[in-house]
Amino acid sequence: MLTTKVIIVILCCLLVSSYGQQPSTCPDQGSGNYGCFDITSQGNCTEVSNKSPTYDYRWLNSGVDSNVDWTITCGDIIAYKIQGYTGVWSGWYVPGVNDMDTKVNGGNGLRRLWSYFYDHNHSYIICKPNNINHLNGC
Ligand SMILES: *[C@@H]1O[C@H](CO)[C@@H](O)[C@H](O)[C@H]1NC(C)=O
Ligand SMILES: *[C@@H]1O[C@H](CO)[C@@H](O)[C@H](O)[C@H]1NC(C)=O
Repeated sequence: MLTTKVIIVILCCLLVSSYGQQPSTCPDQGSGNYGCFDITSQGNCTEVSNKSPTYDYRWLNSGVDSNVDWTITCGDIIAYKIQGYTGVWSGWYVPGVNDMDTKVNGGNGLRRLWSYFYDHNHSYIICKPNNINHLNGC
């Protein structure tokens, strides 16, 4: 009987000590941290380079709406460049940071510089949700 109890206690101790142990395939990142976390649900960003004018009126008519990128491109455009008609590329514009057009349009309307996606070459970096979270229709 005593032997059985001792064996049970030992088994319990083994269970407790192995509980919380990391799989042996997890890389030791130092300081007791193991890289065993699932981050595969992250979104994903890609660069779209030298895209031709879209001739999509939604860019032209979107005013200062900072979410029209979702409507038109199914993603979050985090930075973009515009090519002027002289061929010279702008620097990076970041929505909400430095992308207000200084031009005032009819009805005192202001626009973001991405309104020029309508009739200018442009490049952008776009971030989309992970495939498991994709929006309907995208
Ligand atoms: C737009 O890009 C095309 C293709 O690269 C190029 O042929 C054209 O000259 C560009 N337009 C302007 C205004 O630079
Ligand atoms: C990242 O985005 C690209 C382009 O949309 C897509 O082909 C790829 O499957 C995506 N990767 C993941 C992990 O969602």
